[in-house]
Amino acid sequence: MIKAPNLREDVSPLLSVQDLKTYFRKEEGGSVKAVDGVSLHIRKKEILGVVGESGSGKSITALSILRLFPSPPGYIAGGDILFENQSLLAKTQKEMRLIRGKDISMVFQEPMSSLNPAYTVGYQIRENIQLHQNVTKKEALDHAVDMLRLVGIASPEKRVHDYPFQMSGGMRQRVMVAMALSCQPKLLIADEPTTALDVTIQAQILRLILETREKVGSAIMLITHDLGVVAEVCERVVVMYSGKVLEVAYVNDLFNHPAHPYTQGLLQAIPRLDDTRDRLSIIPGSIPNPANLPEGCRFYPRCQYAEERCQTEQPPLVSPKPSQWVSCWRVAGEKEMDSDAIAATAAKAPLNV
Ligand SMILES: Nc1ncnc2c1ncn2[C@@H]1O[C@H](COP(=O)(O)OP(=O)(O)OP(=O)(O)O)[C@@H](O)[C@H]1O
Ligand SMILES: [Mg+2]
Repeated sequence: MIKAPNLREDVSPLLSVQDLKTYFRKEEGGSVKAVDGVSLHIRKKEILGVVGESGSGKSITALSILRLFPSPPGYIAGGDILFENQSLLAKTQKEMRLIRGKDISMVFQEPMSSLNPAYTVGYQIRENIQLHQNVTKKEALDHAVDMLRLVGIASPEKRVHDYPFQMSGGMRQRVMVAMALSCQPKLLIADEPTTALDVTIQAQILRLILETREKVGSAIMLITHDLGVVAEVCERVVVMYSGKVLEVAYVNDLFNHPAHPYTQGLLQAIPRLDDTRDRLSIIPGSIPNPANLPEGCRFYPRCQYAEERCQTEQPPLVSPKPSQWVSCWRVAGEKEMDSDAIAATAAKAPLNV
């Protein structure tokens, strides 16, 4: 079993996303609020899991960090993204190109969409290395071969001359990982890196990312639908829903004491071998249409505990206990937080979540 190291001692944030809003302009007017006030941070060498159902804004958050979302129609409507205390939103496109692939790199869900079919994989890895490091073409190609070997590709000296279409899905995903890690990034964003692969290859790729992280020392933001993977490899988890963060907690706390009704629903929906229920539990209803969002809590229409206030007022992120942040009026009520206590913790949320 792969175990995440205990990183609680090292608290310095590498990346801090603060109240980020990424919207998409609609042709007919108005905007789709894909990411709507998201705050999260990642510490050096930490593995942070990001979960939430389809459409919750996980990929757009990741793409916002690298400024790779389609723009237009996408635009940053508010907030900030700090990497090593510097605002990424204040960087020029040229500066961002130097950060991408070197300080922060990303493995996408679908490798074919990020590998260029017209060039060999060796050429593509070499280009990335030469863009960021002062090495000769030969040195860069040798490094590309080493990276392919590291990610477990047999005969890397030969395969380095292959085009992406000559490789299987699992091999292409390995190439993506090799390329993403070739310049030893401080942060690797892996957006569902194994979803398109079969279960055996999934486990191999995941192990590979973690092993390479051990060697390279990168922090990882792991976006996944698989809560089993989160339990196994992540230290903290962010639960997203409809463009918002609903809960942030250490993995143990989240699995043992999920505070948000949505998180509770997600965990109850995981099939278990010792389960005696006839049917799996599901969360009734579906994620709201981003073009027609509820006024109050985004989860309100599906929540079994919803009260009147949930319908009209968005719950702020509050911290009922250290390192756990929850956006739910019920949690604030249970902890008997008065409006001053709620306002005080909510104000600190963007910096601490
Ligand atoms: N180019 C775009 N134009 C308009 N809306 C968009 C665009 N790209 C994404 N969105 C919207 O942003 C919202 C968040 O999308 P996102 O891809 O981040 O979800 P996700 O959590 O990554 O989902 P999945 O688990 O399916 O990958 C969705 O409602 C989506 O429809
Ligand atoms: Mg996605």
